[in-house]
Amino acid sequence: MCGITGYVGNRNAVETVINNLKRLEYRGYDSSGVACLTEKGLEVARAVGKIANLERVLDGHTPESHTAISHTRWATHGKPSERNAHPHRDSAGKIAVVHNGIIENYAELREELISEGVVFASETDTEVLPQLIARELTRLSTQISAESFAHAIRVALSLVRGSYALAILCADLPDTVFVARKDSPLVVGVGEGENFIASDISAVIRYTRNVLLLEDGEFGIITPDKVTLLKLDGQIVAREIFRVTWDDAAAEKGGYAHFMLKEIYENPRTVRETLRTRLLEDGTISLPGVPFTPAKWTSFKRIAIVGCGTAYHAGVVGKRFFERILRRPVTAEVASEFRYGDPILDAETLVILISQSGETADTLAAMREAKSKGATTLAVVNVVGSTLSRDADAVLLTQAGPEIGVASTKAYLAQLTALSLIGLYFAQVQGATLTADYAVALRELPSLLERCLQKEPEIIALAEALASSSCFFYLGRGYDFDTSLEAALKLKEISYIHAEAYPAGEMKHGPLALVEPGVSVIGFCTQIETEEKMISNLKEVKAREGTVVAVLREGAKNPDCADYTLFVPGTLDPLMPIVSMVSMQILAYHVARLRGCEIDQPRNLAKSVTVE
Ligand code: G6P
Repeated sequence: MCGITGYVGNRNAVETVINNLKRLEYRGYDSSGVACLTEKGLEVARAVGKIANLERVLDGHTPESHTAISHTRWATHGKPSERNAHPHRDSAGKIAVVHNGIIENYAELREELISEGVVFASETDTEVLPQLIARELTRLSTQISAESFAHAIRVALSLVRGSYALAILCADLPDTVFVARKDSPLVVGVGEGENFIASDISAVIRYTRNVLLLEDGEFGIITPDKVTLLKLDGQIVAREIFRVTWDDAAAEKGGYAHFMLKEIYENPRTVRETLRTRLLEDGTISLPGVPFTPAKWTSFKRIAIVGCGTAYHAGVVGKRFFERILRRPVTAEVASEFRYGDPILDAETLVILISQSGETADTLAAMREAKSKGATTLAVVNVVGSTLSRDADAVLLTQAGPEIGVASTKAYLAQLTALSLIGLYFAQVQGATLTADYAVALRELPSLLERCLQKEPEIIALAEALASSSCFFYLGRGYDFDTSLEAALKLKEISYIHAEAYPAGEMKHGPLALVEPGVSVIGFCTQIETEEKMISNLKEVKAREGTVVAVLREGAKNPDCADYTLFVPGTLDPLMPIVSMVSMQILAYHVARLRGCEIDQPRNLAKSVTVE
């Protein structure tokens, strides 16, 4: 969680870091702050709430500075307040630190420092870092230089447990930013006579496409003309420049009111791009980023699919699809449970880790767990250069482009598309001939999704009818139940209406007791095998005076129990979650808009959860 930016060079450093920080606001928006080096020394400004509040505090008077760091926070330790906002300083006010991650042993370090007379200014875990660095500098009692300061940082880091991406300034060292990384992402954008630091690439690409990706346990000293990367033991690291291929425009709103709406409209392109080069002309599938031999594929006796949030919901669809076509046992589990559940993993297990960001702490921990037990890991990930994409045994990159809206939309469709490709490829390796029908259906998907988007006016009318509902149930059977999970998540996270997904057949075992006027029930009836049963379940809801919305395939009969219907283009049953979800994303978006919610940055949430 949290976003970090930094800058050294000839530009106005404060303006530059704050502008870049806006690109990272999806990572947290409880408070923000900036530190810069000026003729007066180290100056800091902080504000509660969004970055706009920080700009208000600065009131157009950005200090004259060429070296700055900034931070947008998603609170973990200490409530959102100005004093808990980063940057944090040592007691002398000479060292400023911005941090993404958690210092797990901060309480004991804090006690130790307090017993030595240090007075803390915040409740955060982060503040121990500038205080520890300051203590080490005092102990060194030498002139402060880049080397001695770097040494002090390394000593401080050797004392902390936990995760961090850090950017650090020292009042006595102009034109220098120090950085470090362990289990939280950090990149350096390399410019001409200037360098940029950020939690992810989207915050630096308007200035440079040349990026250095820090790895765990690395530390950097960054000046306008030089980036020195070292291991924590001081050994120099040679890192190749990573050239980013997507452009800045892809991270802008492009005329849409919100990133989320723009990203929903990018669904067809996303699916097309994810299929490109993998679904071949002859209907076969090729997975160039997955270098497993056929023997390796068939050695996988079990598959475990792991992810968080939307990525987990994609995994649930994947499990159903894989089991059906591969006839091998497959589990789908949220990463935070997987790791502590003592999963059965061995050399015959394929663990598929799904993540948009590739930085979700629980998903990364699941990958490490899988590797340590000898399983093979395959990442389905959107962000190129992310930790997951670098550390997994094989990678299938989803081609969604940057996703900025906190509520995941196009990345989900990309993940479902990628999982279809993996399942079909595995089936192909096993000698199955089913890929031909799927090839046709997959190729047709982008045009079906375009048709779903054309229904936006109809869905707006539906949103107007439902926006004042007190509660939503999303019901389905089979793949339609899987769709319900993600549809309910979309609505609740951005509209703040309680929404719950339920297998339709289970309603009468409890939740039906909650149905009354004012409760909306969205019933997915897109699975040919279970359509009739679904309609019976919706009748049970209607009899209890809930508002019923039936989601049906085009051409299906309009059920008389439905107050509203929404028709979606039909395709093969296992691909219906891809088609149905677009309408549900649009519905959630407009319900949230009508309720005046902060769509791209819902309260209490963040896009990338880099803490466990
Ligand atoms: C957060 C985001 C979700 C996302 C989940 C997993 O909760 O708000 O949209 O699905 O993290 O993130 P990942 O980057 O691993 O897909």
